[in-house]
Amino acid sequence: MSDIRTLGEFIVENQHDFPHASGELSSLLGSIKLAAKIVNREINKAGLVDITGDVGSENVQGEAQKKLDVYANDKFKAALEARGQVCGVASEEEDELVVFNKELNREAKYVVLMDPLDGSSNIDVNVSVGTIFSIYRRVSPVGGPAEIEDFLQPGHKQVAAGYIIYGSSTMLVYTTGNGVHGFTYDPSLGVFCLSHENMSIPEDGRIYSINEGNYIRFPLGVKKYIKYCQENVPEDDRPYTSRYIGSLVADFHRNLLKGGIYLYPSTATHPNGKLRLLYECNPMAFLIEQAGGVASDGQHRIMDIKPTELHQRVPFFVGSTKMVHKVESFLKEFP
Ligand code: AHG
Ligand code: MN
Ligand code: MN
Ligand code: MN
Repeated sequence: MSDIRTLGEFIVENQHDFPHASGELSSLLGSIKLAAKIVNREINKAGLVDITGDVGSENVQGEAQKKLDVYANDKFKAALEARGQVCGVASEEEDELVVFNKELNREAKYVVLMDPLDGSSNIDVNVSVGTIFSIYRRVSPVGGPAEIEDFLQPGHKQVAAGYIIYGSSTMLVYTTGNGVHGFTYDPSLGVFCLSHENMSIPEDGRIYSINEGNYIRFPLGVKKYIKYCQENVPEDDRPYTSRYIGSLVADFHRNLLKGGIYLYPSTATHPNGKLRLLYECNPMAFLIEQAGGVASDGQHRIMDIKPTELHQRVPFFVGSTKMVHKVESFLKEFP
């Protein structure tokens, strides 16, 4: 019992990572932890109470909003506003950025970008879903309202990022630029306990994760890479294994632990792919780099892209270094 380390203890022990504002960032992560527990409780009951299915509205990207998309968005927003460590949030489920105007919040130094419920089409069928978050220091003056510039920063400026996976067990995985650490939720204690310290992704892997139903619409380089994964080359451990859950968080989490690559390329109908740079790709890119892997749009490092819009999409290739570099070389050879 004495060797259990809770997330709260771990954050406090490691707050020297933040010479500028240690207590504030710890408190912010505490807000995320609290909202995660509340959302987790609701997700666990999903089949019992009337929270599965659509609300009947669409978000700004034209996706049908699930009841739990809206629920998770509300809970994370409320938790982030309450302690006054955040001056505003951007979310998949909010058309515009949300500015917190209380005096306490205007004094705050941070903004949060989030995908409150990732993989939400999986919620009605009891498959793993997640929450993704990304934290920046604001660039607008403290004391005033949050501005759009605070949110349109390149990913390499992130001060923290992470996800919660509501899976067969619930985990919170985060980085503050000093390694990637995973905590498993113990529902009987109501705490996240350190279970995966200093996670690292194998340099190479043999799992590839992609929605192959879109094959006909993929760029030639991606088609060639998929065929490469499927070739019978036993000395190279190919064919690889195909695994696709349809929740980025869950596919990413498996590949992080086992080695692998997740791909969401551009398609003939969606030239920028599907995933959103600010609250899906950048946080995952920060995590994967901290774990020793790579995140690319096919040509460039994800975290070097200068964002221009809140809900901007980007092709996404993330995972084991050798696998991501291999796709990049196919895309270069077969543009
Ligand atoms: P969200 O549920 O937050 O809108 O994200 C869905 C994303 C991602 O989680 C998943 O990997 C991908 O969409 C699946 O897309 P396809 O159904 O097109 O494969
Ligand atoms: Mn969605
Ligand atoms: Mn998502
Ligand atoms: Mn979502």
